[in-house]
Amino acid sequence: MKRIGMLTSGGDCQALNAAMRGVAKCLFNSGENVEMYGFLEGYRGLIYGNFRMLTGRDFSGVLTKGGTILGSSRTPFKTIKDPDENGLDKVEAMKQNYYKLRLDCLVILGGNGTHKTANLLRSEGLNVVTLPKTIDNDLWGTDMTFGFQSAVNIATDAIDCIHTTAASHGRVFIVEVMGHKVGYLTLNAGIAGGADIILIPEIPYDIKKVIDKIEERNRNGSMFTILAVAEGAISKEDAKLSKKEYKEKMKNYKFPSVSYEIAQQIQEKSGHEVRVTVPGHTQRGGSPCPYDRVFASRLGSEAGKMILNGEYGFMVGYKNREIVKVPLEEVAGKLKMVAPDARIVKEAKLLGICFGD
Ligand code: F6P
Repeated sequence: MKRIGMLTSGGDCQALNAAMRGVAKCLFNSGENVEMYGFLEGYRGLIYGNFRMLTGRDFSGVLTKGGTILGSSRTPFKTIKDPDENGLDKVEAMKQNYYKLRLDCLVILGGNGTHKTANLLRSEGLNVVTLPKTIDNDLWGTDMTFGFQSAVNIATDAIDCIHTTAASHGRVFIVEVMGHKVGYLTLNAGIAGGADIILIPEIPYDIKKVIDKIEERNRNGSMFTILAVAEGAISKEDAKLSKKEYKEKMKNYKFPSVSYEIAQQIQEKSGHEVRVTVPGHTQRGGSPCPYDRVFASRLGSEAGKMILNGEYGFMVGYKNREIVKVPLEEVAGKLKMVAPDARIVKEAKLLGICFGD
């Protein structure tokens, strides 16, 4: 008999349901007697004992469904050890709910913050297996996260659509891409969408270099320019500031996001007409792409196998084209970022893409 709890935490993404279905199918098909409980709205469900029993029927038809059938929430790790507004010890409450249901294992699907809490629960003695989700692909210990490829498709579509209108009007267009503090999504969507300039947090930009590239294109007869700008892109001057100085500066920041600041600078310094498009949360929505369906199903079934073998304390990751077990303590608290000298960056530069550096 195996009793499993499952939850999805943090920002949602495509293929969460596909991954859970992978776990469930593997376990329900194993011949082992399995009981599965889904905690609702992430760690909140585990803290407050809000759960429902899951059967095979819950996973029928969800392979292609975006979002998460369990709901999700952000439960910041920073405050996880603080009591809630009624004085409840949240960590203790999660442990108690785990023990009350006599769980053998918790399956936790999430990104960076989620993994810190998952690792904390592991260190508190709970059996935990995690699955790497996020459109940002910024999770340490895995080359790929599910949700990422689907988001690349959506961001690429956005750039494709902008291309035709930018060309018709001879305008400069900025497409702002999600990714939090890392540039994987922008880099991949930017290359796939044929962006002329890609700005990512890992490579601080010089606005003069950006404008030079636009002018160079104009001289060569291309009257429009497409910039793929990561929401976390940062200028060379700002990158030099200490954390404290940057925080102070941002208090009086008057732009909705960095793309609008860049747009104003280009407009003022070069006279070019600039438009900004922000696809925003559309990048996290809709059906998972086929890659993510396959990838999440594989990770899910491997997680199921690990549970059947009693192997706990791992994230199921993907390294060098192999599915691997990564100890949770190695994953928690680390960010995977684009190396400024990565092959993909060098190759993009060979294509003539400007990074503003
Ligand atoms: O981590 C996924 C992500 O979509 C980031 O790319 C983005 O910065 C953030 O979540 C947005 O968070 P929220 O959905 O809470 O606005």
